[in-house]
Amino acid sequence: MANDRLDIVIFGATGYTGKYVVKHAVNFYKEQEMKFGVAGRRKEALEAVIKEFASDIEDVPIILADIKDEESLTKMAKQAKVVINCCGPYRFYGEPVVKACIAAHTHYIDVSGEPQVIQYT
Ligand SMILES: NC(=O)c1ccc[n+]([C@@H]2O[C@H](COP(=O)([O-])OP(=O)(O)OC[C@H]3O[C@@H](n4cnc5c(N)ncnc54)[C@H](OP(=O)(O)O)[C@@H]3O)[C@@H](O)[C@H]2O)c1
Repeated sequence: MANDRLDIVIFGATGYTGKYVVKHAVNFYKEQEMKFGVAGRRKEALEAVIKEFASDIEDVPIILADIKDEESLTKMAKQAKVVINCCGPYRFYGEPVVKACIAAHTHYIDVSGEPQVIQYT
């Protein structure tokens, strides 16, 4: 795995769960210099998340990626050691992100509380 990858990329950073994860990533950055980026489909919304939660950190990378664009997901995954997927519902949106992480040899984490996903995947 290339050393120039970010430690974590938070995909779906503009959502309820995503913002919560960003808040914690800021603490990890400050305590352990764990580098993170935010990813999603809307640049302005991602900029707003950085402004709200990470305004004191310089140059948090923004990665544009959309569930409907496989190539964008793979490009995103290649920039991370770990993708934290906060883009749900996972029963609709989960699989393409898992596939992109497999293709990019990237670790994958999500926060699924969806029984359909937990039981059948
Ligand atoms: N385990 C638990 O206790 C727990 C608790 C809460 C949530 N969750 C899980 O977390 C998941 C997300 O919940 P949430 O409440 O955070 O949802 P949410 O607020 O609706 O956020 C969904 C996120 O997905 C993004 N998204 C949707 N369609 C997309 C697309 N085509 N391409 C790229 N991004 C897209 C949204 O981006 P936009 O802002 O651009 O729309 C947003 O960032 C749920 O499905 C659930 O499984 C688990």
